[in-house]
Amino acid sequence: MQETLTILGLESSCDDTAAAIVRLGADGGGEILASIIASQTDLHADFGGVVPEIAARAHVEKLDLCAQQALSAAAVSLRDIDAIAVTAGPGLIGGVMAGVMFAKGLAAGAGLPLIGVNHLAGHALTPRLTDGAAYPYLMLLVSGGHCQFLIANGPENFTRLGGTIDDAPGEAFDKAARLMGLPQPGGPAIEACARNGDAQRFRLPRPLLDRPGCDMSFSGLKTALLRTRDALVAEHGGLRQRDRADLAGSFQAAIADVLAEKSRRALAQYIAMNPPNPLFAVAGGVAANQSLRAALETVSAEAGASFLAPPLALCTDNAAMIAWAGGERFRTGASDNMGLAARPRWPLDQSAPAMLGSGKKGAKA
Ligand code: KG4
Ligand code: ZN
Repeated sequence: MQETLTILGLESSCDDTAAAIVRLGADGGGEILASIIASQTDLHADFGGVVPEIAARAHVEKLDLCAQQALSAAAVSLRDIDAIAVTAGPGLIGGVMAGVMFAKGLAAGAGLPLIGVNHLAGHALTPRLTDGAAYPYLMLLVSGGHCQFLIANGPENFTRLGGTIDDAPGEAFDKAARLMGLPQPGGPAIEACARNGDAQRFRLPRPLLDRPGCDMSFSGLKTALLRTRDALVAEHGGLRQRDRADLAGSFQAAIADVLAEKSRRALAQYIAMNPPNPLFAVAGGVAANQSLRAALETVSAEAGASFLAPPLALCTDNAAMIAWAGGERFRTGASDNMGLAARPRWPLDQSAPAMLGSGKKGAKA
């Protein structure tokens, strides 16, 4: 039996200020006592992306409020908390710093241990919080800012099998939606538009499928889409409803095909480790896409692995995942001190080759 832990988690690495209280049970299970998220979407709406400076200021204004709301919603006080977990990277540095500074102040004031958490570890450990997933499992993080395959071996032990070398799929969906005159966020808009479309009509590229391994690329897809759109506009004087739907369907199918084939390869590597309970979990906003989800589920079943997609509210950025990941780290005896640094880049797997580039939501890893 392990000791029960109650952790306050804080997240501020992108455009959501979040605080949560999570209890890690003696049996290894987790319970979310409160999860508060203050979204900054409105603040950035006019700018076509997250403005780091605006984000950092808004985090500074909202962190204490969110923490207070989380404590009160969970009906606990700081005296009931065993440790404070905070996202220490990767992400937009101003926001990460705001969170780390706030957490340090709170930890020092309340005399509580401080635990720095890798934001990606938060996402990657979510299947343990929601479903008690046993190590090792295979994880696909797929959102507006992330895209990578990870094998989770332990709370701080991850093997990265591959990731995007340019855009994340959510970013690609958002850009593609803009090109087609669809609203933001682009993913849900394209999915809805694609329902009436013919996904076979336009043969868009499936980048990097001709190369071995699990790395992916999505920026060329956007260029191909642009060319096809321009040709249609030139031919008909505008994008007709039918063409838009077919284009949306073809684009969605290309992304799903790439992710499915790369998942097949990642699963093969993972299954070769002979995991006792093979599990493939997917997290991130793009995992909401029904056709993608269906494709991944099929690939998973073919490989003999169970498939898991945590509830969407826990797939997108939140502080419950940070509290859980901090709690797992704390249980191993780890903690940080006032020297804890905010890191804009912080790859989960230090031995994997560095991932280049940063998107509108900060560094990719
Ligand atoms: O995880 P998330 O909420 O935020 C981060 O990116 O961190 O993911 C948001 C992304 C957006 O790019 C959005 O277009 C995409 O997830 N998305 C979708 C769908 N719902 C959200 N993409 C494809 N299909 C969807 N149904
Ligand atoms: Zn995230």
